[in-house]
Amino acid sequence: MPGGAVTLVGATNVDRVEAPVTIKAYLMCAFAAFGGIFFGYDSGYISGVMAMNYFIHEFQGLPYPPAGATEDQKKYFVLPSWKKSLITSILSAGTFFGALIAGDLADFIGRRLTIIGGCGIFIVGVILQTASASLGLLVAGRLIAGFGVGFVSAIIILYMSEIAPKKVRGAIVSGYQFCITIGLLLASCVDYGTQNRTDSGSYRIPIALQMLWAIILAFGLFFLPDSPRYYVKRGKIDVAASVLARVRGQPVDSEYIQQELAEIVANHEYELQVIPQGSYWNSWKQCFTGGLSTPSSNLRRTILGASLQMMQQWTGINFIFYFGTTFFKDLGTISNPFLISLITTLVNVCSTPVSFWAIEKVGRRPLLIWGAVGMFVCEFIVAIIGVTDGHNKDAIKAMISFICIYIFFFASTWGPGAWVVIGEIFPLPIRSRGVGIATASNWLWNCIIAVITPYMVGTDRGNLGARVFFIWGSLCVLCWIYAYLLIPETKGLTLEQVDRMMEETTPRTSSKWVPTTTFAAEMGLTDKGTLDPAIVEDVERKGSVGV
Ligand code: BGC
Repeated sequence: MPGGAVTLVGATNVDRVEAPVTIKAYLMCAFAAFGGIFFGYDSGYISGVMAMNYFIHEFQGLPYPPAGATEDQKKYFVLPSWKKSLITSILSAGTFFGALIAGDLADFIGRRLTIIGGCGIFIVGVILQTASASLGLLVAGRLIAGFGVGFVSAIIILYMSEIAPKKVRGAIVSGYQFCITIGLLLASCVDYGTQNRTDSGSYRIPIALQMLWAIILAFGLFFLPDSPRYYVKRGKIDVAASVLARVRGQPVDSEYIQQELAEIVANHEYELQVIPQGSYWNSWKQCFTGGLSTPSSNLRRTILGASLQMMQQWTGINFIFYFGTTFFKDLGTISNPFLISLITTLVNVCSTPVSFWAIEKVGRRPLLIWGAVGMFVCEFIVAIIGVTDGHNKDAIKAMISFICIYIFFFASTWGPGAWVVIGEIFPLPIRSRGVGIATASNWLWNCIIAVITPYMVGTDRGNLGARVFFIWGSLCVLCWIYAYLLIPETKGLTLEQVDRMMEETTPRTSSKWVPTTTFAAEMGLTDKGTLDPAIVEDVERKGSVGV
């Protein structure tokens, strides 16, 4: 409604820029985390499925092993590395493109509708996979499903970061990671339950079940409002006010809602002034502007988001979750590799809630720094045990224990931390694309690792065995240095304050930064304490023409 019809009371007090929140509002913000379930499930079920005899029989054209096959005979009953690599990685390839495109769509049709659309695409991909009995259809189905997962995984982070109250934003986004881990666990359980079936149900059941998560998420989102920051970007300040009131559980005319919205609007106007907008391509270009030496430049933020997700993948976590089952099978001495991978996923689930507390109390920066230390120590220990006494039963038990401790460190630090930080570091004009690029980077590296790992450890290829943990350990040392040098502290700040903090500090001094003024006060308050109507009008006008 251009014309400055909305009057907003602006805050001068930096502590008053966010409304108190009701339980119902918390639950609304937390629901979106459900999207993590099918992210986790989708990436998790494939490891178990590829080790299933019936699946190998169907997709490798091998005769079904006779009931009395010896362990030695069964050893040859494996998929070749190139097939494992293709089936696993094709999902991440689809997700990569999905995440990139999703950012555009989220600015155009809204965060909520983009996620719902992602669920629809995902369901189509799952139907194809369920129907498949040949590699071609399976691969096509995983590519399409991946596309849908890309939409969901990028935009959920954006949506949650934008609607969550600042005090619990980290914890709520960690809830998304928690759901990823539950998804991985569910996938292990379902694989475990169907692995011994002697029909195609062994792999079709785990695949088909995923539709349920997409249906629940899409259905639930129909009842939730879109992000108020999206409406501000589109210039619909009055709608932004009413959805903000809903997500905070406050009356629309309450001073808190007014002040929070005034801050979002004033910040957006400020950003539009420093980031001149233009054509479609120009707005993509904005993600890469500003010098490399300016920590708050868009280019630096985009690189930060993309590299943070790259480093998260470099921790090696998906080596465990994608290839855990086959890795333990190859070690030879483990009688039930499925059970071990069930245990590792369980450790993942149980450790993640630690981050709900730690991410707000300890902060993002220390969590990422110390998490990396914990991980590399464990990985080096696993590698050393593996090369010195790798086939002794007790040594393998020790390796598994340290892998579990390593998972604890990942799940309570880098797992949630990377997602939380990418939702916070971008200014509104480039936020959806920035989060999309960072998420795409997660999936790109996820894909690269999925492609190369079977070649590194496959008994028919590099056969690195436990030595592969020297590689993951060294990469975690890099994660540690990276976090120390580059991760800013964002806890307890509104997204608008994060924006300012990044302009005024360096990562290493960021935790001491406190806001001293509000955007509303800086951009202009009238005598009556309301935000200068010219600002509201300008944001409405630019948003209505898609700037
Ligand atoms: C990562 C995934 C990983 C999962 C494990 C996520 O944060 O992005 O690649 O599979 O954590 O819990």
